[in-house]
Amino acid sequence: MSAYQHRIFSDPQFEIDFVGPDDSSFFRTILGFRFNTTNTRYMIPADEDAVRRSHLLYHMVWFLFKGKRYLGPVAEVLRANFDGRQRQILDLGTGGGQWAIGIADEFPRVEVTGVDLAPIQPRLVPSNCTFDICDLDVPEFPYPADSYDFVHARVMHTGISDYTQFLRDIGRVLRPGGMVLLVELELEAMADGRMASEFQGYSGLSGWFSLWEAYQYCLKRRGIDVNVPKKLGRLLEEAASFRNITVRVDSVPIGFWPRNSSDLVVGETSWMYYDSLLPSMLPILMESGYSEGHAKVLIRSAQEDLYHPIVHTCTQLHTAWAIKK
Ligand SMILES: C[S@@+](CC[C@H](N)C(=O)[O-])C[C@H]1O[C@@H](n2cnc3c(N)ncnc32)[C@H](O)[C@@H]1O
Repeated sequence: MSAYQHRIFSDPQFEIDFVGPDDSSFFRTILGFRFNTTNTRYMIPADEDAVRRSHLLYHMVWFLFKGKRYLGPVAEVLRANFDGRQRQILDLGTGGGQWAIGIADEFPRVEVTGVDLAPIQPRLVPSNCTFDICDLDVPEFPYPADSYDFVHARVMHTGISDYTQFLRDIGRVLRPGGMVLLVELELEAMADGRMASEFQGYSGLSGWFSLWEAYQYCLKRRGIDVNVPKKLGRLLEEAASFRNITVRVDSVPIGFWPRNSSDLVVGETSWMYYDSLLPSMLPILMESGYSEGHAKVLIRSAQEDLYHPIVHTCTQLHTAWAIKK
C-alpha cells in the first residue's frame, strides 16, 4: 500500500498538478449536498453516500458476475505482452475507487488509473493504483493514444453528453487488441420484469415510475442520452474501432422478494443502493425546475414504493465488451 496524492489533469496540455491535504477547492455545496467542481453539469453529489453507493455497486455487480470484477477476455488481454510495455488499465468514472483498487490487487504487475471528477477515493491504495481528477466529458480526454490494455467504465454515462465521442476516445487510448468493458444500469423504471413503457395504466408503483421519469427528464435537459444503457452494443459498432462486440443484459431484483439466496443478495444490495440514491436526486430535480415541495413528494413517493412495494421492483444491468481493432 502507498499513500498516494491524486493527480489533477485540468487542461489538455497534460500539465499535472496534485491534490494536496486541503481538497476543498474540488467541492461545492448546493442545498446542503456536496458536489464536484470539475464538471458542474454532473449533479449527483460527491459525498460519503456516493462512496457508500460505489461500495454497494461493486458488490452488486460482483454477485451478478458470479464473483468476478469483469466479463470478457480480460486475463488473456492482460497476459499478452504487447511490445513488452508496462500493462495499463484505465477505470473511467471510478467513484469511490473500489473497482480500481480491487483490479490493482488482482493484477499486481499492471498499472491501474482510476479517473473521476472529485477526489473521493481512498488515499491509501495499492502501489500500482493511481487516481486522477479529470473531466472525461470533453472532445478528447488527456490520455495518450494506443496506451491502455483495458478500459472499464461503469455506471457513469449520466456524466457524458456525447457517448459516441466518448467511445471513440476510448478506442483512441486503447492499444490494438486492448479491451473495453462498459457496464450501465437501466434508467427506465421496471416492475415485474417489464419496463415502465410496457405498462398500460396502473402498475402498482406509480411513485417509483414518476421519479424515474422525472430523473430522465432532468438528464435529457442536461444533454444526456438516457437510452445509452440499452444501446451499448450499437454505439460500440458506430464508434467503428472495435471488433468482437458482445452484449449481455442481467435482470437485477431490487428488494427482498427473490426466493433464491443469490438473487436475494443482489436484491438486498441494489435496494440499499437505490435507498441511498433517491434523496441524492433532490438537487438535480430542483436545478431542473421542480419546486422543492414537488421534488420532495416525488422522492417520498418513490421511497414509499421502495419500502412497501405492491409488485416486484427490478432493473437491468447492461454490459458490453469489445476488442480494439
Ligand atoms: C454512479 S458513480 C459510479 C462509480 C464507479 N464506476 C462504480 O461502479 O462504483 C459515477 C461516477 O462517475 C463520475 N463521472 C461522471 N461523469 C464524469 C465525467 N464526465 N468525468 C469523470 N468522471 C465522471 C462521477 O463523479 C461518479 O463518481
